[in-house]
Amino acid sequence: MSLSMNWRAAALCLLLVAGGAFAADGAPAKAASGHASTRIPGHAAIASANFHATEAGLEVLARGGNAFDAAVAVAATLSIVEPESSGIGGGFMAVLHRASDGHDVFIDARETAPAAVDAQDYLNPDGSPDRDTALKGPLSAGIPGEPAGLVLIAKRYGRLPLAQSLAPAIRIAREGFEPDERLREAIAGMQEDLQRWPASAAKYLPGGKPPAAGVIWKDPDQARTLELIASHGDQGFYHGETARKLVAAVRAAGGNWTLADLASYRAKERTPITVDYRGYRIVTAPPPSSGGVAIAEILNILSGYDLTKMDAATRTHYVIEAMRRAFRDHNDYLGDPDFVKMPLDMLLSPFYADGLRQSILPDKATPSSMLPRAEAAEPGMHTTHFSIIDADGNMAAVTSTVNYTMGSSFVAEGTGVLLNDEMDDFALVPDKPNVYGLLGSKANAPVGGKRMLSSMSPSLVIGADRTAVIGSPGGSTIITQVLEGILHFIDGESAQQIAAHKRFHHQYLPDVVNVETGVFDAATSDALTKMGYTLKPREAWGFMNVVTWDRKANQLDAASDPRRPSGLGKVQ
Ligand code: DON
Repeated sequence: MSLSMNWRAAALCLLLVAGGAFAADGAPAKAASGHASTRIPGHAAIASANFHATEAGLEVLARGGNAFDAAVAVAATLSIVEPESSGIGGGFMAVLHRASDGHDVFIDARETAPAAVDAQDYLNPDGSPDRDTALKGPLSAGIPGEPAGLVLIAKRYGRLPLAQSLAPAIRIAREGFEPDERLREAIAGMQEDLQRWPASAAKYLPGGKPPAAGVIWKDPDQARTLELIASHGDQGFYHGETARKLVAAVRAAGGNWTLADLASYRAKERTPITVDYRGYRIVTAPPPSSGGVAIAEILNILSGYDLTKMDAATRTHYVIEAMRRAFRDHNDYLGDPDFVKMPLDMLLSPFYADGLRQSILPDKATPSSMLPRAEAAEPGMHTTHFSIIDADGNMAAVTSTVNYTMGSSFVAEGTGVLLNDEMDDFALVPDKPNVYGLLGSKANAPVGGKRMLSSMSPSLVIGADRTAVIGSPGGSTIITQVLEGILHFIDGESAQQIAAHKRFHHQYLPDVVNVETGVFDAATSDALTKMGYTLKPREAWGFMNVVTWDRKANQLDAASDPRRPSGLGKVQ
């Protein structure tokens, strides 16, 4: 898909000029070797959801790898140690920035629907959505994108052979590791589902129970699957032994994958969405994520206000109204760019944002239209985001997922691969909400080979003096978390402050503002309630992993959400 935006050509020469200026400012002098000269001597920073993964990335950097090799190492290690969130049975989205020439690219390793997908499979006899089929077992799984995405990153952007970047993950899988509390709790929470499939029970419920604290856990099947990828690249997963095992296991359990579905899967490079806001250039995820479009739309609306001069209630009011409008568009227009035409020029245009801003009253909430809908499930943190900046100034923002906790709960026998349940991210039943309460239209209907819409929003925030790499899990709340993180960074907050910041969320429907305890003081809550908002307390959400780079001070910083003790942000 081309994101050549007419509005840019017509009206935003300014944006292009600013973008160019940043690239020039950010681009290091070329060394004779053709590599970028080192700009952050001896330093690199990684923040991920698990300390094994952060250490794996740092190990690969120490062996001469760049941020992109480290990203492969971190993602593969998370597949072993944080399977409840992401893995090679799922998919990811990434925004990469190559320092040597300022190239920004979006890597789309999102799952696709198998060719035989049939929307009827996700309906009960009475026509209501069959949530179990959408979320559990082989029919809930899309064709995995993560292996192809890792191979693509290693080949086109890495410095090391793929086998070296996968080595730490393979070693951990072979030698074993101690499952952390989050993983043990995820397995316990999904025990009933895991028991439904023998290979899932054998892997995750050894002796019929979730693993106890302190056990050392090995994953030889997944180690072998990763070794085949390490030696044969795409061929090692999408063809041959692994492909045959995946298809056989899926079909034996009532699924519909074919060898052709796997053989035809391709990870894709796409042009990221960029938006200018208060002197920063935000580089973020295009469709099939809805995240970047929503973030750009919200920032375009907000750029008409001076938020810094407002009291907390007024500022929050404008942010919520911008969220509400962006989520409404998300529901209506967005899907896989290879299958649907989307009015992106309109959605991303500052003139469109001007119009939306006119509809916002200065002191009153605008009620969302009252569509009947179910309550969304708690978003949890089962998806994972990591952020990396290396010593050359290369950057990787990667959000990876198997969708809901433990994905489909289905392990394909003999592969160690836990399959995703990403099919639920399609609008399987029009106008019925998915597990995150998101509604979808025809644009996101399931079709063979099509990618399901995502909220994943890996993002770079590039300024003349300061830069951030940011993202989070959290279903539909990903978008608002990343947006708030961007605003906090631009307000001057540190990586630690951004990761720790309390959050609020509005997604058009249900027409409530989710609030984390302590996000607003009493006066602000009062003022918002008087404007017409329904504030709904919700347990803390998200698992933000952010790295920042202060160019002037030549300083890197890394922070992992303090609500989640398993994360590790580390500067080396
Ligand atoms: O791609 C998406 O938008 C979802 N599959 C992400 C799921 C997620 O963040 C779950 N964690 N809370």
